[in-house]
Amino acid sequence: MRKMMAGTGWKMNNSVAETLRYAETLAAWSAGRDLSALDLFVLPPFTSLHAARTALSNTPVAIGGQNMHWDASGGWTGEISAAMLCEAGCRYVELAHSERLQHFGETYAAVRKKLDTAMHAGLTPILCLGETAPEKAAGRADAVLEAQVLTALAGQGAKHIPDVVLAYEPRWAIGGAEAATPDYIAERHGRLRETLHAHYGKAAAARTRILYGGSVTPENGPAILAVEDVDGLFVGRAAWQAEGFIRIIEVVADAARTRRPQG
Ligand code: PGA
Repeated sequence: MRKMMAGTGWKMNNSVAETLRYAETLAAWSAGRDLSALDLFVLPPFTSLHAARTALSNTPVAIGGQNMHWDASGGWTGEISAAMLCEAGCRYVELAHSERLQHFGETYAAVRKKLDTAMHAGLTPILCLGETAPEKAAGRADAVLEAQVLTALAGQGAKHIPDVVLAYEPRWAIGGAEAATPDYIAERHGRLRETLHAHYGKAAAARTRILYGGSVTPENGPAILAVEDVDGLFVGRAAWQAEGFIRIIEVVADAARTRRPQG
């Protein structure tokens, strides 16, 4: 059984003061609720990690970084190491978000090194995968996704693959007006799981979680979660306020209650 997830990447939003308000709202809402069926996370900006960690310490909501460097230390101005994220209380690190690829020239070859470092540090990588609009139009989505995932996971043994969380985030759907349709998501997630099966075996494929992200809302979430291969939602705009994230968590919790065991 794959544990379902609800998470949000805040991108360059939420100051320390805003983070404290967000986290306090979330902590008050989650107090006394049984959320043990889910893995929940927020990815604040680096400067808000400490505040988030402190204010969420008695909640089931974990925190993570939005990026990190592959090296342990040294002359990498502006970068953050895996150990620094761990020290700040992170359980997760997001890698290969499309905005990192598009605006900062990040490549999956670099992501492979980051992922390896993250795994050794005990962080859970949230590995983003997604095709661009032209790649989709050319019918190349699955080939692109396969190349991305195999590049990023190269060198990892099959038994470690379920320690990575995959996030299918079509680049054309991020920050847009509409999410991908459930049918389209079902095809991409299904093919990704087949790729994992072919390269890492049945057990790894059955146990690895694949989230969907890209214009998710509380309204479209239930139909996306009705897709059997979708193991949770990874949300931007709709969860930048605590109230929005709470609605997303409720949607995922509902889906987890009704889901049949897989794997
Ligand atoms: P969005 O962002 O939900 O605002 O489209 C998703 C993401 O960037 O992960």
